[in-house]
Amino acid sequence: MRLADARKDQYRRLAKDRGYRARSAFKLLQLNDSYHILKRGSKVVDLGCAPGGWLQVAAKEVGSTGKVIGIDLKSVEPVAGAAVLQGNIEEPSTLKEIADILGGIKADVVLSDLAPNVSGVWDIDHARQISLSTIAFDLARQTLRIGGNAVFKVFEGEMLNEFRVQLRKSFARVLLSKPSASRQQSSELYMVCLDFKS
Ligand SMILES: C[S@@+](CC[C@H](N)C(=O)[O-])C[C@H]1O[C@@H](n2cnc3c(N)ncnc32)[C@H](O)[C@@H]1O
Repeated sequence: MRLADARKDQYRRLAKDRGYRARSAFKLLQLNDSYHILKRGSKVVDLGCAPGGWLQVAAKEVGSTGKVIGIDLKSVEPVAGAAVLQGNIEEPSTLKEIADILGGIKADVVLSDLAPNVSGVWDIDHARQISLSTIAFDLARQTLRIGGNAVFKVFEGEMLNEFRVQLRKSFARVLLSKPSASRQQSSELYMVCLDFKS
């Protein structure tokens, strides 16, 4: 077995053992260990949340005094401690639904693990991913409190730097991270954005 397959298998097994719905849960756990994004009592919005691995991690980290809201095109089995909306983040009505659930309070954290249906054509997939992440960033700007944090999944490629430049205008710190639970051969990376300015 190749090292990458062994690692994938290891995280799949770990997810099963620990009751996570998806191995992707470990990506958020590792990002949170490094950057302390989620805190007790945080209000979290998770964009592209199906099947719910990140929701499980977020709900546990924020505890009963926090709030977790997930959105996905797909339906998601209920997750204890999280509210889930089935909807498209590209629809303006989705922003209103999120605001309604937040009840007039701004979010502390916006997470985006959004992924398009991949075509296998690298340039096209990169462009679609950046486009989704840009929509997620717009949504984050309207939802986050000053000082809040965000995470955006991106794929490597030529449009990445421009996206990073845009993020830097809104956050005090923007870091590019590749958690070890993310497959090494995948071009997937995460932009960790700390301390929202405006
Ligand atoms: C990689 S999965 C997320 C995995 C999730 N973080 C977890 O841990 O279970 C990406 C998700 O983005 C969703 N997605 C893609 N485009 C979307 C859109 N326009 N609106 C809402 N969700 C979308 C997909 O349906 C898919 O479930």
